[in-house]
Amino acid sequence: MILGISGSPRSNGISANAIKYLLSKCEGETKYISLAGKHIGGCISCLGCTKDNKCVVKDDFQEIANLMEKADAIVFGIPNYYDVPNALSHSLLERCFCFRHQGAFLLKDKPSIIFSTGYSSDEENNQVLKIVDHFLMMNNMKVISKFLVGAFSQCYTCKYGRTCEDGNVVKNNGIVDKITPAMLPAKFDKQVESMLKCDKAARLLNEILT
Ligand SMILES: Cc1cc2nc3c(=O)[nH]c(=O)nc-3n(C[C@H](O)[C@H](O)[C@H](O)COP(=O)(O)O)c2cc1C
Repeated sequence: MILGISGSPRSNGISANAIKYLLSKCEGETKYISLAGKHIGGCISCLGCTKDNKCVVKDDFQEIANLMEKADAIVFGIPNYYDVPNALSHSLLERCFCFRHQGAFLLKDKPSIIFSTGYSSDEENNQVLKIVDHFLMMNNMKVISKFLVGAFSQCYTCKYGRTCEDGNVVKNNGIVDKITPAMLPAKFDKQVESMLKCDKAARLLNEILT
């Protein structure tokens, strides 16, 4: 089973749609999970997991941890918030501390794909990709592809974007009378390049898993 995790708190945003698209290009069984609405706190350093590599904190991580362990491969879609992974995703990755005690490394060698949704297109220097890669490396996972997907911008729907000089609407268009559909950042299904990157990553995963 290939597990796709959207780290966004938005259930139908770009990360969600990109993960679903990528999974649709994968062969065999897939499972999609969204962190939207989930309650996942950060690691509390209780060390309850050191004995048997099971996290003892009872929240929504348990269900995801089981799926992560079972999966043959994992695809992570992580929104960029302030140039780091958003808090929900960060908590999930931090809690993966439970998998790596006493030489167990339960996620060891699991192929994984990371993409991050954000405004930047500089894949080489992107901090979110680097941070998530580091988390996975600490679990001895095998990252086979890393790439960026274009962002949604909250400024276009916040109701103040038309005139807010701190926001992306004014930054990109100046003060406008009306926000028109042409100004909106592209939804995932209009991001041809991002779709091609997902196709390529899925192909790579299919090759590895067959
Ligand atoms: C609190 C917050 C901070 C953000 N900071 C950044 C940022 O520093 N750089 C960036 O590229 N995008 C930033 N964004 C935009 C998100 O990356 C963008 O909305 C992304 O597409 C979210 O993915 P989603 O559609 O799956 O929710 C930020 C969004 C929020 C809500």
